[in-house]
Amino acid sequence: MLTPDGHSDRVSEYSVLIGKHLGLSEEDLKTLRIGGLFHDIGKIGVPDSILLKTEKLTDDEYSEIKNHPTIGAHILSTATIFKDLIPIVKHHHEKYDGTGYPSKLKGNDIPFFARIVAVSDTFDAMTSKRTYRDALPLDVVISEITRCKGTQFDPEIADVFLDILKNNYDEIKEIQTKYI
Ligand SMILES: [Fe+2]
Repeated sequence: MLTPDGHSDRVSEYSVLIGKHLGLSEEDLKTLRIGGLFHDIGKIGVPDSILLKTEKLTDDEYSEIKNHPTIGAHILSTATIFKDLIPIVKHHHEKYDGTGYPSKLKGNDIPFFARIVAVSDTFDAMTSKRTYRDALPLDVVISEITRCKGTQFDPEIADVFLDILKNNYDEIKEIQTKYI
């Protein structure tokens, strides 16, 4: 059994924060909040032996991990109440330049909320401690997000997030300290 590490809680809150800075409606923020919480639900279909592996994954194991967005979308397709969450769950690993998965969607073809969650998800991965490295320092994270603007990330969403990191870092810090 996996222990909760706060990843999805933080991804949810970072996504809502970006949404607020984008001026989204309360309804949209609610969808983002729940979508962030559920974004990795498809990992239930990936064996713990792969999810918890600390050594480098084989190509086959990595392919199995890459199934989680589609598995998650299938899980949520069982009830109409989840329908707005499906695009977020299914497409949060797409990249703006079309090199992501599972559908290799490009640019604005990637659902808007999934583009927001993609930024939050990567940020949390970079700022969380891994078995093989410490959390990355803020200046490295900022240059990495800047470098990936337009390739991995929607440039406008990346800019909004960079602005939060540079000018409203207390809002990020508050989320980070909440789930430790
Ligand atoms: Fe994921």
